[in-house]
Amino acid sequence: MPVAKVRKAVFPAAGLGTRFLPATKAQPKEMLPLVDKPIIQYGVEEALQSGISNIIIVTGRGKSAIEDHFDVSFELENLLESRSKKELLKIVRQVSDLIDISYIRQKEALGLGHAVLRAKELVGPEPFATVLADDVIDAATPCIRQLLDVYEFFGAPVLAVMEVPKEAISSYGCIDAEPVTCNGSKGQVFRIRDLVEKPKASEAPSNLAIIGRYILTPDIFDSIGSITPGAGGELQLTDALRHQLRSRPLYAVKFEGKRYDAGDKLGFLKATVEFALRRADLGADFREYLKGLTL
Ligand code: UTP
Repeated sequence: MPVAKVRKAVFPAAGLGTRFLPATKAQPKEMLPLVDKPIIQYGVEEALQSGISNIIIVTGRGKSAIEDHFDVSFELENLLESRSKKELLKIVRQVSDLIDISYIRQKEALGLGHAVLRAKELVGPEPFATVLADDVIDAATPCIRQLLDVYEFFGAPVLAVMEVPKEAISSYGCIDAEPVTCNGSKGQVFRIRDLVEKPKASEAPSNLAIIGRYILTPDIFDSIGSITPGAGGELQLTDALRHQLRSRPLYAVKFEGKRYDAGDKLGFLKATVEFALRRADLGADFREYLKGLTL
């Protein structure tokens, strides 16, 4: 039987962004610009390039800048038009023309699982991607597309994982898993035996950390509804996945590409430098500038 097509992607963006204070006091971290594009736009473009046609963003208090960013700005467009700034007008229009986006609010930041549950009505009875936009991923094949390929093979939920140093694993959800063959490739795809959120390094079952890309099935909503708050007093998506594992297999993909934790100050700086260096219009000058620094 062909598996149901994934058409929708949920972007939980209602977290408090405490690691990026004070910048995130009055603006969402998803709007921090990497060079000249807000973090969340990279995620939205990745979803579109992966074949997703419907974006749902879970927002919270103080997040209206996200809605404004993807909306049409008539004043700005009129101004650019009257000043004949054609290139800038094109850039601004490209953002609002990207796609129609639906929004739902999470009134209180009660955890990632809770944020995903808020999207239940908008998602309906179909599989969906979930994207944590502060994980920015640079990859030849968009990361979501890599997960979709595995989802389409097994017809089951798929999480993105990456190897991290053992001492860093306590910042992530972690999987216990065995490698499986998928589409002829070996060593990249795993069947999950168990999952744990933010384990102590000494208790972690592996060095495979869950990062912010998931293909989920609609039964996850019942699992989120069945769990109680876990690490940090929050409803954790990892705990809901663990609950779901009792009734169906789950898979993980060690994706190809580089992930930047843009919700963290150092991760954000690394992404900024590397993305700027790759830009045709800025890279050469920026490289010269960096070479001139005494490091
Ligand atoms: P993080 O763990 O990065 O938490 O959330 P955070 O609150 O956003 O940031 P810090 O750690 O305090 O700096 C992972 C993702 O889940 C979303 C966040 O917006 C982010 O995309 N999230 C988290 C919610 O939407 N709601 C929540 O209640 C918690």
